[in-house]
Amino acid sequence: MTALEKLKELARLFEGEGIEDAAREAALLLTEILRISKTKLHSSPPDIGETMLEKIDSFAARRIHCEPMQYIIGHVDFWGLRINVGKGVLIPRPETELLVEETIRLMRMIARCKDEAVPRSVGLSILDLCTGSGCIALALAKEFPQSVVSGIDRSVQALAYASRNAEANGIGNVSFIEGDLFGPLRADASFDCIISNPPYIRRSDIPSLQKEIRYEPLNALDGGEDGLDFYRRILNEAPRHLKKDGLVILELGFDQAEDVYRLAVSQGFKDIRFVKDYAGIDRIFVVRFQEAM
Ligand SMILES: C[S@@+](CC[C@H](N)C(=O)[O-])C[C@H]1O[C@@H](n2cnc3c(N)ncnc32)[C@H](O)[C@@H]1O
Repeated sequence: MTALEKLKELARLFEGEGIEDAAREAALLLTEILRISKTKLHSSPPDIGETMLEKIDSFAARRIHCEPMQYIIGHVDFWGLRINVGKGVLIPRPETELLVEETIRLMRMIARCKDEAVPRSVGLSILDLCTGSGCIALALAKEFPQSVVSGIDRSVQALAYASRNAEANGIGNVSFIEGDLFGPLRADASFDCIISNPPYIRRSDIPSLQKEIRYEPLNALDGGEDGLDFYRRILNEAPRHLKKDGLVILELGFDQAEDVYRLAVSQGFKDIRFVKDYAGIDRIFVVRFQEAM
């Protein structure tokens, strides 16, 4: 059987199982397993041997059981980095790249204030809470090579991926620490920027999530009864660990902007802003820390 014949068979199978983007997923599975480009798959498809066919079928069966494709192929592209993922670590989402983009924009502004001539070489201190695969911390560490980036997560499994991802991408200015939010930090540790994409799903919404999402670790999703537990804690503790004019930048669930705004105001934060995602939803929360809050 040729790879192109297998592609058609898989696309039909996935479509019949109600998988969105069936043709694209089938092509991704084949190009990854066969290690060929999409162009080669279509223009000069190789023959597939028996052993390889069995491997493809076993991967396809996992997909039909709703395991996310990123877990099956073992990685995802994020901000130009290859991020390894698997059971026990959240799959980085495209909307989180927006968090990275906004953080880079703001960090460049801060860096420019510190050193007009060479903004990208100025050392900034960045804390990524709930770092998971390390995708945010790594993207920022790569973008600001003179900066020191720390990523904290409670999950040992996730941190193993984060460290592996740092090594695989050759990024050295980042360290990953196990712990509960700010818990592992020294009392006097302070940062130019604290970022987080924390767990933010309402606990009661979890059972009705897409089957694919339920493959992901519960502790990466569960934001407590109202989904706001982590925002409460982060906004409460962040002022103790922010430099003057430091920033807190958080990813939000699709309907959480108003609640998080209220939380921030009740904590005394003033300079609050939201950034919309491509669907027009307030997705990123930004606040600047002024010492006299
Ligand atoms: C939504 S995921 C975000 C992962 C990654 N930053 C990303 O954007 O793809 C949330 C992460 O928070 C971690 N987490 C849950 N509770 C935590 C806690 N109390 N302290 C630190 N990390 C925690 C989970 O292990 C998970 O990796």
